[in-house]
Amino acid sequence: MSKREFEGKRVLVTGAASGIGRSCVELLAARGARVLAVDLDKAGLDALSGEFGDAVESFVADLSEREPAEAMVSEAIERFRGLDILINCAGIGSFGRVTETDPAVWRQVHAIDLDAVFFACRKAMPHLVESKGNVVNVASISGLGGDYGFTAYNSAKAGVINLTRNMAVDFAREGVRVNAICPGYVLTALTAQMPPPIAEAFAAGVPIGRGAQPDEIAEAILFLASDRASFITGHVLVADGGCTAATGQPNGMEIMMQAQTGGEGA
Ligand SMILES: NC(=O)c1ccc[n+]([C@@H]2O[C@H](COP(=O)([O-])OP(=O)(O)OC[C@H]3O[C@@H](n4cnc5c(N)ncnc54)[C@H](O)[C@@H]3O)[C@@H](O)[C@H]2O)c1
Repeated sequence: MSKREFEGKRVLVTGAASGIGRSCVELLAARGARVLAVDLDKAGLDALSGEFGDAVESFVADLSEREPAEAMVSEAIERFRGLDILINCAGIGSFGRVTETDPAVWRQVHAIDLDAVFFACRKAMPHLVESKGNVVNVASISGLGGDYGFTAYNSAKAGVINLTRNMAVDFAREGVRVNAICPGYVLTALTAQMPPPIAEAFAAGVPIGRGAQPDEIAEAILFLASDRASFITGHVLVADGGCTAATGQPNGMEIMMQAQTGGEGA
């Protein structure tokens, strides 16, 4: 891989002020891309463009609404005279079973996590057809199966995954690739909101034994966005430390070892 793999590429990244999105911007800028970093968080964006100078420009937008989601694409086209890569990363979580999920929360989660992806892709696609570009949507393993109490998030992320597959087949002949990434537990502001016992339980549930750093996910996103992935479209790349490889059955080996050592470890 060339150190300047994204030289001359024009990229739009949403959710750019924090976590996985921020890490994407950092890696892209370091590898030669010009990036329009989009987020709700102006202070976070200012810090980012201060760090990278001309390579990173910022645009403040609340992606829970259609108009700003479309406006950010127009802004990228105007500033860069085209677009090569769209990374839809902005997202929020939610907690509550279907019976405890307020309809306003359901709507808000779908507006940001799913509708914004639709509006951004809808507006960007003609420009990506022109540049033979690609899209990477940040979904989640929560879009592949059910989690306890993640009603709205499970639904929205599943929508992102199948929207990705749909757009991949619809635009394959026009030269646009569309892929999704499904991270597992990642150490970002989103998961830092979890009370410590819950965070510990999430980490313990990952076969690798820890949450991912944001750049471990950003590297996988950049691979899908790069020319190295030129024959990959409609793919849903899981980056979860082995979480979905497990059946969910208990770790009998560990329980036996603990019993033999009196719970003091091996
Ligand atoms: N952290 C995890 O464990 C994890 C796991 C799987 C998937 N994801 C997904 O990764 C993506 C990035 O999450 P993260 O973990 O980096 O979280 P994060 O909170 O660090 O970053 C999310 C960013 O999205 C922005 N954002 C939220 N609402 C917005 C809105 N209405 N308009 C514009 N920007 C908005 C936030 O300001 C923030 O900068 C999300 O789509 C999330 O669902 C995260």
